[in-house]
Amino acid sequence: MPKEALSILDQRTHSTYEIPTHDGTIRAMDLRQMKTGPEDFGLMTYDPAFMNTASCRSSITFIDGDKGILRYRGYPIEQLAEKCTFLEVAYLILFGELPTAPQLKEWVAEITHHTMLHETTKKFLEGFRYDAHPMGMLTSTVAALSTVYPEARHVLDPTVRALEIKRLIGKMPTIAAYTYRHSLGYPYVYPDNDFSYSENFMNMLWKMAEPKYQPNPIMARALDILFILHADHEQNCSANAMRAVGSSQADPFLSTAAACAALSGPLHGGANEEVLKMLDVIGSKDKVPAYMDKVKAGEFKLMGFGHRIYKNYDPRARIIKWAADKVFEVTGRNAKLDIALELERIALEDDYFVKRKLYPNVDFYSGIMYQAMGFKPEIFTVLFAIPRTAGWLAQWQELITDPEQKIARPRQVYIGEGARDVVPMENRVVVAPHPAA
Ligand code: ACO
Repeated sequence: MPKEALSILDQRTHSTYEIPTHDGTIRAMDLRQMKTGPEDFGLMTYDPAFMNTASCRSSITFIDGDKGILRYRGYPIEQLAEKCTFLEVAYLILFGELPTAPQLKEWVAEITHHTMLHETTKKFLEGFRYDAHPMGMLTSTVAALSTVYPEARHVLDPTVRALEIKRLIGKMPTIAAYTYRHSLGYPYVYPDNDFSYSENFMNMLWKMAEPKYQPNPIMARALDILFILHADHEQNCSANAMRAVGSSQADPFLSTAAACAALSGPLHGGANEEVLKMLDVIGSKDKVPAYMDKVKAGEFKLMGFGHRIYKNYDPRARIIKWAADKVFEVTGRNAKLDIALELERIALEDDYFVKRKLYPNVDFYSGIMYQAMGFKPEIFTVLFAIPRTAGWLAQWQELITDPEQKIARPRQVYIGEGARDVVPMENRVVVAPHPAA
């Protein structure tokens, strides 16, 4: 018997099995040997939404949701946010170690030289309707990059992978800024290599007729911190989409587009936009208690609250609150902050939220800060996608180089009809639609 194992008695057959455990897990495939007879397929696990299933072994991001701990490659998020730039952190996430000064110089130069979009990609963006949602534009344009760089499909070639990683990290802010300018009807601004990653993004967003844009250093640093906080978050919905699509050896542009699509949903990265809409609906601080009553009655969710993993204050929300205060020193206080603070105050005291361990998540304060910086809510999720690209690519690279991984293909428990014959049209009768239809 292995040192660490479970003894399982199958009551159906009175057989006993020794199932080894590793790192607090059992291998689901070890259950397959448990059969009721030769015709039996073998035991499977049933885990909708992957509530208790590890889909990979990863060394990128560590989260302790009960203690509110987040670390990239072992470094606490608080230290990274205080001491590093986003591109330093992206390097760390992708390559496992913080860069030395020469490594960082080379990395920054390479990313900076991949910020430009092919003119056909710019034209592609011009084709969207004036009111197209920026996340839809971003997702489609990232997918379209696959047509510009067809060699990206050689995903098993490390040199190709390294190049496409730099291209994607370099081009995401450019595409994001173009989607923003497009929605405003402004002309596109080309990247400026004199600037840092976040300064250049601000330049592409907000430069108008002036010969040289002057980014506000406090805002640029705040944006960089926001990018650090959003860079990775282990096996979340979009990282899982990246890995699932990447497991078919689709190219990284298409896999990243899938991850963007997953991020766009209101239960995931789309929540920051929803928070602002919610604060608009509430309108003023005195209306908060009545709104909370409706949340507790199950009419809707409190957006920006709750998390699958964090059952404590999301450490990123704490840092965002701090960064938001810095931004407000420049921009003036966002009036919505009072409503948000009141929501948080009530939620942290109210039994409904306390019992369910619902705390503010990363999206709760980021939107208020983004709005103070001059962004419209529609662009908030795009701001999330820019830095998360580093995390998606690190997850993808880990997947591609992991000998244990194969094409992702979950099992199902079939609950439909048994075999039946097709009835001729004239004999068919109307039946109630299936509940899933
Ligand atoms: N407001 C009110 N009640 C909530 C909320 C909320 N925001 N979140 C969860 N609950 C309740 C659920 O109704 C459920 O109550 P019940 O036990 O009485 O049925 C209980 O808390 C557990 O919630 P689940 O939905 O089972 O938790 P799950 O882990 O599946 O969902 C999620 C996590 C999707 C983040 C959820 O909390 C939510 O929808 N939050 C609002 C959207 C949001 O802010 N998303 C951003 C998450 S961070 C990110 O992705 C970047």
